[in-house]
Amino acid sequence: MSMFEHAAAVTDLPAGTMHRVRIHGHDVLIANAGGAVLATDDTCTHEDASLSCGVLTGAIVRCPLHGATFDLRDGAPLDEPAEEPLRCHEVKVEDGAIFVRLREE
Ligand code: FES
Repeated sequence: MSMFEHAAAVTDLPAGTMHRVRIHGHDVLIANAGGAVLATDDTCTHEDASLSCGVLTGAIVRCPLHGATFDLRDGAPLDEPAEEPLRCHEVKVEDGAIFVRLREE
């Protein structure tokens, strides 16, 4: 099982923002959805687009390339053209820092 890895400082992720971070060579999206920090794969499941370049509304991210939306709470695709869910990762916030543990494939 992988370990929790430092992803960002809490102050670098205000509510309503998201960033791409690299953990063990893997692109991870971290988002602050109204105070809840969520982490999923950053790459859209439709094609090769970085969701961190999309639009975050609450816990919903819209892909910048073709507009698919995903619920970051469970990774579920909400709109076509994406059909596959995003992989969600475990998050913990401790001492002002955000840590992410990658979920295995
Ligand atoms: S690459 Fe995301 S919807 Fe097409």
